[in-house]
Amino acid sequence: MSRILLAKLGGDAESFRLDDAPVPAPGPGDLLVALEAAPINPADFLLSNGWYAVQPELPFAMGAEGVGRVIAAGSAADQALVGRRVLVLPTYEQGTWADRIVVPARNVVTVGEAADALQLAMLGVNPATAHHLLNRYVSLKPGDWIGLTLANSAVGQNVIALARRAGVRTLAVVRREEAAEHVRRLGADAVIVDDGENLGDKVAQALDGAKLRLLLDGIGGADVVAQVAPSIETGGAFVTFSSVTGQPPLMPLGELVYREISVHGIFVINWVWNAPREEIEQVYAELSELVEKGVLGASVEATYSLGQYREAIAHAQRPERSGKVLFTFGQAGQAGQAGTPR
Ligand SMILES: NC(=O)c1ccc[n+]([C@@H]2O[C@H](COP(=O)([O-])OP(=O)(O)OC[C@H]3O[C@@H](n4cnc5c(N)ncnc54)[C@H](OP(=O)(O)O)[C@@H]3O)[C@@H](O)[C@H]2O)c1
Repeated sequence: MSRILLAKLGGDAESFRLDDAPVPAPGPGDLLVALEAAPINPADFLLSNGWYAVQPELPFAMGAEGVGRVIAAGSAADQALVGRRVLVLPTYEQGTWADRIVVPARNVVTVGEAADALQLAMLGVNPATAHHLLNRYVSLKPGDWIGLTLANSAVGQNVIALARRAGVRTLAVVRREEAAEHVRRLGADAVIVDDGENLGDKVAQALDGAKLRLLLDGIGGADVVAQVAPSIETGGAFVTFSSVTGQPPLMPLGELVYREISVHGIFVINWVWNAPREEIEQVYAELSELVEKGVLGASVEATYSLGQYREAIAHAQRPERSGKVLFTFGQAGQAGQAGTPR
């Protein structure tokens, strides 16, 4: 088997190495899975730099999530899983940037045969995050408005798709025109390119008297929050899911106190770690069906083989990518051509 290990803390290709080892036999409760595809996510670089909730013990097997097929089951595991396609859940107990992995059976759920492998490989993190962002904090009904920054990210694309399906209107904030075009095509109802000038006025103007029930922010810092917060309805909610500025989001005191806007953070991995198994299976079954129907998904920019990990890692960290970068794996990876822009 081949896999990518984090050899030392850092985000450049030199921090990682390709490791070849004999294929391990699954323990009693384990499954041996042949991976089809696994994405490279921004959080992988938070982890590789030592800035993530999970501190890597070196050498660390990289890759949070992926999709593959069970090729062997341990003596105590369900033998009926052999041959089934499974999503490897983002528990960080196994690394998915690998052509074969041994994984505890509790860390997989079965997924549909018909869906695109690349989209299924990305199901564990971003669609689940979008699902929780829309369902956990306020109750939304058709016609309500929500706002989101980082709207062209994979999280944002999934939020727009799920909101649209529920009849909820989205005000999408991006930082460049190409990204604006992208989210318009996905069905965002109002799109703002934030050039650092008068964001608050632009948001208020786009809403034309309406207010946001929920604001989902991936930028952090004081600026964007202060500008958009006045457009959140009194008693509405603000959720931070990321901070590309590295700054904590700063909600103005008056918005917190006089207008009782509630402030939340989300870390979807807490849900993966702690939710009852039944709930995990139900949520991923629903999301997998939506991927299969083409309702949910995120743009893909390129796929690479493990041998091309240096290029893949550099590509995944390019600013202004138009989509995700994933690893695909030999025979099982029929999802895309290695190194191919898509
Ligand atoms: N809290 C959670 O549970 C959770 C779950 C999933 C993801 N996340 C986080 O959510 C974020 C998005 O993840 P993803 O996988 O959806 O990302 P992605 O598809 O790889 O997209 C990255 C996004 O970040 C934007 N961006 C990067 N640097 C930026 C900067 N300096 N200023 C403004 N925008 C910037 C990009 O904009 P351009 O296209 O213009 O470059 C793009 O919209 C990441 O920070 C990730 O770690 C958190």
